[in-house]
Amino acid sequence: MGGVAFTGGRETIYRANLHLRTASRIIARVAEFGARGFPELVRQAKRQPWERYLVAERPVQLRVTCRKSRLYHSGAVAERVLESIEKRLGVEGIVAVQRVQDDDATGQLVIVRMAHDRCLLSVDTSGELLHRRGYREATAKAPIRETLAAALLLAADWRTDAPLLDPFCGSGTIAIEGALLARRIAPGLHRRFAFMEWPDFDAGLWRRVHADAAQAALPHVPSPILASDRDAGAIAAATANAARAGVAGDITFEQRALSAIEPPAEPGWVCTNPPYGVRVSERAALRNLYAQFGKVMRAKCAGWTVAMYSADARLEKATRLSFRPLLNTTNGGIPVRAVACGPIEMRKKD
Ligand SMILES: C[S@@+](CC[C@H](N)C(=O)[O-])C[C@H]1O[C@@H](n2cnc3c(N)ncnc32)[C@H](O)[C@@H]1O
Repeated sequence: MGGVAFTGGRETIYRANLHLRTASRIIARVAEFGARGFPELVRQAKRQPWERYLVAERPVQLRVTCRKSRLYHSGAVAERVLESIEKRLGVEGIVAVQRVQDDDATGQLVIVRMAHDRCLLSVDTSGELLHRRGYREATAKAPIRETLAAALLLAADWRTDAPLLDPFCGSGTIAIEGALLARRIAPGLHRRFAFMEWPDFDAGLWRRVHADAAQAALPHVPSPILASDRDAGAIAAATANAARAGVAGDITFEQRALSAIEPPAEPGWVCTNPPYGVRVSERAALRNLYAQFGKVMRAKCAGWTVAMYSADARLEKATRLSFRPLLNTTNGGIPVRAVACGPIEMRKKD
């Protein structure tokens, strides 16, 4: 997974967590220095203002990676950094949990990267990963991460004053992210972040940043958002999720098969995440479904732009739509790419 670096102070950290729709987490760089041996590592790590970010009474989670460095043993590096933090905070026996995976850290996470004998020390500012907006409790089969749903809408250049349709909506993530985007509702408005637990948390500044975001929200979406799925349970889950996200009134959810969709006359964007299917036995049925998808798009969505996540080039081809790649990523561990085509031309014969 890639990263993007930018500079700023506290307010930037608060705003980034609150507003970024596609980031997984925001980590703040504490220090960068050369360290060829443990004495240098400890001397530098001890000098950092850990008291701003860490509460001594709570466990610290450490995620350490070492690449092409003399200090190559991540366990030993973690131990020294923890010792340095304890010295700086003037406490002993901080409970440490070593972390390797970037799954959901909810505690205080310190990230240590050794590369080419340089050490990068960072603290996590987000806590739970940012795709957890707080609205999705009910999920249907194979839900897509909220951040990926937002990424599809942004990469496809959906104009928020044009209609949006997801005919395989599942638990409604793409439609809900669309409504949040169109109403300029900050994705993090209803959740907490790790920086709120920091000793240097500025509650007044946060209240101002939060209030600015709340005021910027529009009362309604400017154009229809339609979401359908053939599965009744999916529609029930999607409706409940949209209500929790505060956008129930902005989306029309309907239980409908793909073949029965009724797009608005004004062209817009179809943004969707069709079933992938991993088992071989599902492939033939999926090929038919993708072929049908292409057919329905040509028959009912002339003038529309179509964007989707795809895990299989053969299935993409089965649609007979001329897709261009938008971005590559993974969804639930499966490599997927977002593709788009359009505006769609109507074919007389299919
Ligand atoms: C990968 S899931 C979509 C997940 C969704 N993006 C979410 O975040 O929950 C694909 C959905 O397509 C639906 N589906 C499969 N075949 C369909 C068809 N012919 N017509 C309508 N929906 C269909 C399934 O019920 C399933 O909910």
